[in-house]
Amino acid sequence: MRTTYVAGNWKMNMDREGTVALVKELVAQLKNCKNKVMIAPPFVYLDLVSQLVKGTNILLGAQNCAATDNGAHTGEISVAMLKDLGVQVVILGHSERRYEFGECDELINMKVTRALAAGLDVIICIGELLAQREVGRAEKVCERQLNSALMGVSKEQLSHVTIAYEPVWAIGTGKTATPEDAQQIHSYARKVIAKMYDQEAADNIIIQYGGSMNVKNYKELLAQSDVDGGLIGGASLKAETFIPICNG
Ligand code: PGA
Repeated sequence: MRTTYVAGNWKMNMDREGTVALVKELVAQLKNCKNKVMIAPPFVYLDLVSQLVKGTNILLGAQNCAATDNGAHTGEISVAMLKDLGVQVVILGHSERRYEFGECDELINMKVTRALAAGLDVIICIGELLAQREVGRAEKVCERQLNSALMGVSKEQLSHVTIAYEPVWAIGTGKTATPEDAQQIHSYARKVIAKMYDQEAADNIIIQYGGSMNVKNYKELLAQSDVDGGLIGGASLKAETFIPICNG
């Protein structure tokens, strides 16, 4: 049985005061949550959130990391720095990083292998553009992204990897993939993992759905047999919209 895993990707949102209020509420209200929950605030609030979630069942995530070790890399944040702050998970390959900041498959793979080698868990985001879906290439795009992101990742390390299927056209747009669309790609991604590793690895890997998941649609999405959780953007910014999804 795979655990349900719900992660909140705050992106470039919130301020110090809102962060403290939201995290305190999540800590209080999720203390008996049976699912795995992670929140990924902006880098500048990681230290603050780290203090607030210490000793609780909420995992601390970062939204990105550098592909290189400490050194002369202006503006970058290394995995060592993240670990120093108590970060346990890093989100990599998000479509906003791919398309807004030009991150290619090769760079994402460098980040994945570096984070795993440092002992961090990773969430690898994959997903097709609308134009790719319209010409029937959604599965192939996701397969290429998985093959590339996981290059050099051992089966043992794969237990520290979560996949997030996020169709790019559904992110922050209010358009959600239908539960059937999500299920189709999730099941395909699992087959890709079986091909790359083996059936056991495929059966065990957690595959989250992301893209306008909210209080209205999460139940139907999570009811799909290969949808094991969610990577939540907009709805993770308020306790009343995030907590119900966390409780799944
Ligand atoms: P959204 O973002 O829930 O606001 O669509 C999801 C994500 O990008 O991780």
